[in-house]
Amino acid sequence: MNRVVETYRAVFGTDPEGVWSAPGRVNLIGEHTDYNDGLVLPIALPQRTYAACSPGVDGLLRAHSAQNGETVEVRLDEVGPGTPAGWTAYVAGVMWALACDGHHVGGLDVAIDSEVPVGGGLSSSAALECSVGAAVSDLGGLGLLGDEAGRARLAAACVRAENEVAGAPTGGMDQSASLLCREGHALLLDCRNGSIEHVPLDLRGPEGDGFVVLVTDTRAEHALNDGQYAQRRTACERAATELGLDSLRDVDPQDLDAALDRLSDDELRRRARHVVTEIQRVREVVGRLRAGDLRAVGRLLDASHTSLRDDYEVSCAELDVSVEAARSAGALGARMTGGGFGGSSIALVPSGAVADAERAVREAFAARGWPEPECFAVRPDAAARRDT
Ligand code: GLA
Repeated sequence: MNRVVETYRAVFGTDPEGVWSAPGRVNLIGEHTDYNDGLVLPIALPQRTYAACSPGVDGLLRAHSAQNGETVEVRLDEVGPGTPAGWTAYVAGVMWALACDGHHVGGLDVAIDSEVPVGGGLSSSAALECSVGAAVSDLGGLGLLGDEAGRARLAAACVRAENEVAGAPTGGMDQSASLLCREGHALLLDCRNGSIEHVPLDLRGPEGDGFVVLVTDTRAEHALNDGQYAQRRTACERAATELGLDSLRDVDPQDLDAALDRLSDDELRRRARHVVTEIQRVREVVGRLRAGDLRAVGRLLDASHTSLRDDYEVSCAELDVSVEAARSAGALGARMTGGGFGGSSIALVPSGAVADAERAVREAFAARGWPEPECFAVRPDAAARRDT
C-alpha cells in the first residue's frame, strides 16, 4: 500500500486524498453458472489491487499503472462502448457506468498497483474496477460502500464497465466477490436475484489437523474477450430457448435427462448438463461445508473439474495437469477456477501436504517443459474498502 502512495506522489507531485483496495477472487465452485442465473461460491483473495486517488480535474481521468509504467489521460465525455482500450477501459468504464446510473463522478487522478496476477484467472480486472469504483463512490459522496445493497449496485456498474467498455461478456460473479465477500467466509451468491449468504469456510477438518486452499496460477494464457467465453454463453442461451425457459437455472436437476433429450444437438446437451449439475454441486458443497465434511467437498471439486473439462470444454492441458498433480500429492479434490482456457486451479490440500503438492505441480510442469507455475495458499479475505 505504501508503494502505491509513493507511485502517486511520483506521478502527481502531491499526496493522494486516500487509498482504496479491492481483492481478486477464487471461486470454490459454481463455474460458468453466473450468466445462467445460477449459484456461485467465491472467496476473496489476500492479494489486492490498490488505487491511490484524488478527485483531480472535473471531466478528466488521469491514471497511472505501476504494472506497465503507463500514464494516460482520458476525457470522460469520450468514454463509451469500446473506448478507451486496454487497462484504462476498466478504470474509465467504471466512471462511465456510474455516470450512466445518474451519479455525479467529477474527475479522478489515480495511481494503481496490484498484487493480483494479471491474466491469471483471479479477477485482476474486477479488482481494478472495484478499487476504482470504491474510490469514486467515497470521493463523490455516493455512499455505495456503506451497505450490501449499495455494494451490489456498485458491482453492477463494474460489470457494465467490463461488458460494455472493455467488451468482455462476463457474468457478475467477480465484481460481487470483490465487493461483497467477508473475511473467513465464502460468498454464496444467487445470481438470479442477487441474494447472498456468507458461509463460514472452516477448514480445520474432523481431526483439527487442517486443510488449505492451494491456488496454482498455471501462467497459461487466458483471455475472456477472445470469443470462446462468449460462445459458451450463447450455447447456454440457445439451450434455454429450446427448452422454453428463461435460463438453465430453471431446469430441475431431477428432470435433467428429460430436458437434455429435448435439446437439438450433443454440444448443447453437454453444455446444459454442466450448468445444471454445477449449480447442484454448489448447493451440495455448501451443505458439506456446514457439516464439516471436507472429503465430500473434495469429491465435488473433482466432479466439477471433470464436468468443466469434458462437458463444458473450458479446461486446458496446464489446468488438467495441475489438478492431477495436486491430487496425486494428497489433495482431497481439485479443479480449475474462473473462466478457464488457462488461468488458475485450486486444490483442497491437507496442511501437512502443501509442500508436497506444490512440488508435484512444479515437477509435472517442468517435465513438460512448461513455464514454472505459481502456487500459493489462500484464506478468505475482506471485500473492497478504504485503506487510508
Ligand atoms: C469469469 C467471468 C465470471 C464467470 C467465470 C466462470 O471469471 O468473469 O463472470 O463467468 O468466468 O465461472
